[in-house]
Amino acid sequence: MIGKRSLRKAASARLMKIDPELALRFCPPSSISVELTSACNIRCFCCPVGQGKIPKGRMSLSTFRQILGLLPRHIRKLDFSHRGDPTVNRAFPELVRHAQRKGYQTDLYTNGLLLDRYIDEIVECGLTTIRIDLDGASQESYARYRNGSSFERVRDNISRLVEVRAASKGGYPRNIFMICVVSTFNEDEIPEIQALARTLGVDQVLFKTAITSYGGKYYNDQAAQDDIAPKNRALARQPRAEGFVCPFLWRGAILHNGDLIMCTVDFEGEYRIGNILEENSYKRVFFGPRARAMRKRILSGTAPLCGSCGVVDENHYIPEISLTFA
Ligand SMILES: C[S@@+](CC[C@H](N)C(=O)[O-])C[C@H]1O[C@@H](n2cnc3c(N)ncnc32)[C@H](O)[C@@H]1O
Ligand code: SF4
Ligand code: SF4
Repeated sequence: MIGKRSLRKAASARLMKIDPELALRFCPPSSISVELTSACNIRCFCCPVGQGKIPKGRMSLSTFRQILGLLPRHIRKLDFSHRGDPTVNRAFPELVRHAQRKGYQTDLYTNGLLLDRYIDEIVECGLTTIRIDLDGASQESYARYRNGSSFERVRDNISRLVEVRAASKGGYPRNIFMICVVSTFNEDEIPEIQALARTLGVDQVLFKTAITSYGGKYYNDQAAQDDIAPKNRALARQPRAEGFVCPFLWRGAILHNGDLIMCTVDFEGEYRIGNILEENSYKRVFFGPRARAMRKRILSGTAPLCGSCGVVDENHYIPEISLTFA
């Protein structure tokens, strides 16, 4: 059944090209990405953070509290994901606990390598969803993309988290998802990865098409990056559909310092529309003159990153091979 929000969103998408401000007032964002740190502990093949191009910074609990105090009521879900890995910020369980007390749904994306430091806290802090990357069935295939990580440690961390959740009273995180970015390194291992996810006891395994271009300035060898696209075109990212309207126009991301940017493809703040802490308001920034001008540029295709960015839909998961176990 199609929900009320989906119907509203569909109407808003039609309106977006005619009057973006009206479209967003009719259907404002219900979720936002929040960057708990811009630092990472591994070096993924395509990720600009992994290429060491991004200055490091972390969000403190007091900044996080201030930010939540400024968010409007229509935002009900926080996605802890952008540059960096949220688990590198040692305070992350406390931040999640605070968000949960304030009634937010919370969704955390992680490479999973450091989870063993936090298993009990993750189960106790009330996190709604955790998405852990494990994109291979062996160290060899996995670490070609997740450079500097350990297949065994991440696998064991997932297994332990599932076990501890099963023994807990609360049953958090409600969803434990395993994420597999499909590339030429792992496209021949899909059945093994599905079997591994089943054995580990996760609720879902979600296969995702890979972005292979974040723009030349982030990566020195674009040809090597292009080469990781799977040979099986059905598993590769497809071109945008006719009439594409970027889903990030209904989202945005807050950086660790309170900067609000339009989308999570923007690793260097080129789509920065202001700082909600300095303005002491989310709404003044999100509906302000800089945001309006940026939206016009995005919609007209003249914003700097939109032409080469790999975003073609909401989440890029591949339903034909993704599995739900729970
Ligand atoms: C940029 S990461 C940031 C959060 C966290 N560090 C992580 O890797 O899970 C957000 C999501 O993008 C996924 N991702 C990483 N490289 C990707 C790529 N080349 N194409 C598509 N998604 C990718 C990650 O697996 C994760 O699910
Ligand atoms: S994709 Fe995530 S884990 Fe990999 S380098 Fe980027 S931020 Fe780190
Ligand atoms: S860069 Fe990509 S994700 Fe960002 S606004 Fe443009 S099309 Fe959307």
